[in-house]
Amino acid sequence: MIKIGIITVSDRSFRKLREDLSGPAIRYWAENKQYSVIMESIVPDEKDAIKAELIKFSDAGVELILTTGGTGFAERDVTPEATIQVLDKPAPGFAEHMRSRSMNITSHAMLSRAVSGIRKKSLIINLPGSPKAVRENLEFIEDAIPHAIGLLRGTDRDCGSE
Ligand code: MTE
Repeated sequence: MIKIGIITVSDRSFRKLREDLSGPAIRYWAENKQYSVIMESIVPDEKDAIKAELIKFSDAGVELILTTGGTGFAERDVTPEATIQVLDKPAPGFAEHMRSRSMNITSHAMLSRAVSGIRKKSLIINLPGSPKAVRENLEFIEDAIPHAIGLLRGTDRDCGSE
């Protein structure tokens, strides 16, 4: 069972001015996969707050940290910058694949600056902010997640035929 952490990055949801629908969309996906959501939070679009949360989740043993929101071009969108600053290694394949597949749905996929990478034993993946984008992007990457986590755990050693 993969341990999941969900971080919603949104000024308005943090201040309770807007209901967070994207965090619950990730939770729904995770529970459907029988993964275990062990940490969940909402933070404002502040680089230091996002970094602190990513570090807290990773140090607590979350294996897959999914953020939603703050990947676009708005002045306060800083989720990728915060993420990059806590990564030990980039793992750009997830973000590249999400953008590439999403381009078949909307050319606005080009506006997501999402990044993905590894901190200690955690895989961190930025997702865009809307529940629709969350659902679509998770579908694009879900097949690669178990092996990614297995490699980080050290339980998967080679890539087999897949
Ligand atoms: N990707 C998919 N699959 N579906 C979408 O609806 N929305 C895009 C993009 N990626 C979208 C998507 C839009 S409109 C933006 S602005 C960027 O993600 C960044 O979103 P964010 O600022 O909410 O993180």
